[in-house]
Amino acid sequence: MVTKRDVDPAFWAGKRVFLTGHTGFKGSWMALWLQQMGAVVTGFALAPPTSPALFDVAKVEGGMTSIIGDIRDQGVLAAALIGADPEIVIHMAAQPLVRASYDDPVGTFATNVMGTVHLLDAVRAAPSVRAVCIVTTDKCYENREWVWAYREDEAMGGHDPYSSSKGCAELVTAAYRRSFFAGGAGTVGIASGRAGNVIGGGDWAADRLIPDILRSVSKGEAVLIRNPLATRPWQHVLEPVGGYLALAQALWNNPAAASQAWNFGPRDEDARPVHWIVDELCALWDKDGPRGAGWIKDGSEQPHEARYLKLDISKARGGLGWQPRWTLANALDSIVRWHRAFLAGEDMHAYCHTEIARFAGAAA
Ligand SMILES: NC(=O)c1ccc[n+]([C@@H]2O[C@H](COP(=O)([O-])OP(=O)(O)OC[C@H]3O[C@@H](n4cnc5c(N)ncnc54)[C@H](O)[C@@H]3O)[C@@H](O)[C@H]2O)c1
Repeated sequence: MVTKRDVDPAFWAGKRVFLTGHTGFKGSWMALWLQQMGAVVTGFALAPPTSPALFDVAKVEGGMTSIIGDIRDQGVLAAALIGADPEIVIHMAAQPLVRASYDDPVGTFATNVMGTVHLLDAVRAAPSVRAVCIVTTDKCYENREWVWAYREDEAMGGHDPYSSSKGCAELVTAAYRRSFFAGGAGTVGIASGRAGNVIGGGDWAADRLIPDILRSVSKGEAVLIRNPLATRPWQHVLEPVGGYLALAQALWNNPAAASQAWNFGPRDEDARPVHWIVDELCALWDKDGPRGAGWIKDGSEQPHEARYLKLDISKARGGLGWQPRWTLANALDSIVRWHRAFLAGEDMHAYCHTEIARFAGAAA
């Protein structure tokens, strides 16, 4: 049985962590949370993928060593990892967008599959490492468009290049674990974390629902919505980030039990259709400011995207003591407040730290 401690700040104080993708949306929140707990963090990623970016806005770099590099370059990545002498590795760097993967399938597979191979190969040569958490996604599953939630032992798949590349990253992780790390029964624990669609303050990615809505409502324009009926497992970004932290702790304490795949999704009732999210967020925005213009369906032809996807989180609840802390309503409220603070020119470094402390202190 895995030790059930959820996120334990005392565990992380002084731990050396190598975090890929630290300049991104989830990576910036992860880096800030690690910094708050006193971890010694080295990040490795390309420059921030958006402008503005949470990495810059929240001054993430100030509390860590930040290396700008490409995980497709095996030698550079290996040298950075060895140089950091990490005890724990969290791999988040990826090309994370479905639509961008249709435009650049080769780049997406190169980053998401071979980047993961390069990382795991670098870990083989790094004796300091004891725990590795590979971040994939709910989209790694073969999607049958059914109403039931997916369990960790279901088949990998993926219709589009992004989803498929993450299914491949899962297979790569399992192969490396079996071939080079005694199946997890040795001294290095290796696991993957599969989360749903994350939402939160500081996401400016193109073609993502929340950033699209906030861009439009801030300007008083109607939001163009591609798939209003698509249902997704929405969760605040700190939910899976906390899940990866709990998982790394479990890998450290009991690699044999924790070295497997884990789902980190929301509660069942927080898998909602896109139109519900848009309506709720617009209503929250309108409460304290000028009225937004609502949404209209984008009638143009769209590439295929999964319509229904739900994660079964029984295993993480039972095995890691992890479970969602905030409801979807809490998450949407947090996003609106975060974005208003940003627009008002508040100190977003301090704001994010307060938000993390508020989240970490919430009862699961
Ligand atoms: N955002 C979501 O809803 C969501 C859901 C499930 C899983 N994920 C996964 O979480 C992780 C982080 O996603 P995000 O939303 O923060 O994305 P993001 O685009 O904000 O960040 C991606 C990070 O990866 C880095 N990166 C991209 N290509 C790279 C390369 N070739 N070499 C080095 N670094 C590179 C970027 O510089 C950035 O730091 C990804 O693995 C993604 O697949 C995201």
